[in-house]
Amino acid sequence: MIGFYSPRTHSLVENDYCFIQDEEADKLAKKAFNMLKEFGNTCYDEKSGNGILRHIMTRVGKNSGELMLVIVTNGEEIIEKEKFVSMISKEFQNLKSIVQNINNENTNIIMGKKCITLYGEDYIVDTLGDYKFKISPLSFYQVNPVQTEALYYKAIEMAELDGSETAFDLYCGIGTISSFLSSKCKKVYGVEIVPEAIEDAKENASINKLFNVEYICGASEKVIPEMYEKENVKADVVFVDPPRKGCDQALLDTIIKMKPKKMIYVSCNVATLGRDLKYLTDNGFELSKVQPVDQFPQTAHCENVCLLTLK
Ligand SMILES: C[S@@+](CC[C@H](N)C(=O)[O-])C[C@H]1O[C@@H](n2cnc3c(N)ncnc32)[C@H](O)[C@@H]1O
Repeated sequence: MIGFYSPRTHSLVENDYCFIQDEEADKLAKKAFNMLKEFGNTCYDEKSGNGILRHIMTRVGKNSGELMLVIVTNGEEIIEKEKFVSMISKEFQNLKSIVQNINNENTNIIMGKKCITLYGEDYIVDTLGDYKFKISPLSFYQVNPVQTEALYYKAIEMAELDGSETAFDLYCGIGTISSFLSSKCKKVYGVEIVPEAIEDAKENASINKLFNVEYICGASEKVIPEMYEKENVKADVVFVDPPRKGCDQALLDTIIKMKPKKMIYVSCNVATLGRDLKYLTDNGFELSKVQPVDQFPQTAHCENVCLLTLK
């Protein structure tokens, strides 16, 4: 069945309509699941490790209308794979990419490392602001593109840039914030841990003709201390947009030593944001502004963008 995990469990609560999901993406997930089941594909069982279908991920380019379907499977087999691909691609005209992702691990991580393109390209394209972005299955992309633009504009407005700055965009994903920053700064460095996302980011810089942006693949907490301590690369303004677990302390320690004039902290988790703000404000920064941006309407979650300035 298709549904959501009940809180803090892996028990699935059946749900066949998601009110906050894009309608087309919702329809696609449902159709794909029903077809795959009809062809005899079984659902993965976490306890026994048996079954084929682990997850279905859909992604929609809100502005381009392009659709991506990712079928996460246990092993390489999908029963009636060709028939499925042919039928579903005919039914959804905007479907630009069907990818099989293999995840054989006994883990709660959704995606495995191996992707096989079953139809079309191995990415979709979307636009945000004036920029085009290529998005691959393993790359992070914000779930609410309308509010994403508002979030990025707010973050950049808070930084009050004059064009002379060197900026770090840490946890940069496919380079969205870096792209928005490129016309406002002298130089931008983007750092991201997922190699596929950095490949997208580099290609996005080339598609958008952004020549002052440089991307580095690696953990921010490793890359930034090395850049600062070994190469003496410093930022005037640091943007961070970490995953829910927040920033690693080694990164915060380097930022504290580096003393950028400003830091913009974008967070989807108030608990880790609170923890990191406490550490930063105990160590030389002042919290000057906080602006919530409702990225997840009708849920309890709220994104926040914060400006920290040197005391
Ligand atoms: C909340 S997303 C933000 C991405 C991007 N700023 C955006 O708005 O699309 C967090 C990103 O951090 C990456 N990430 C997770 N841990 C990381 C680390 N230790 N160092 C660098 N990037 C990391 C994830 O792969 C993901 O792309």
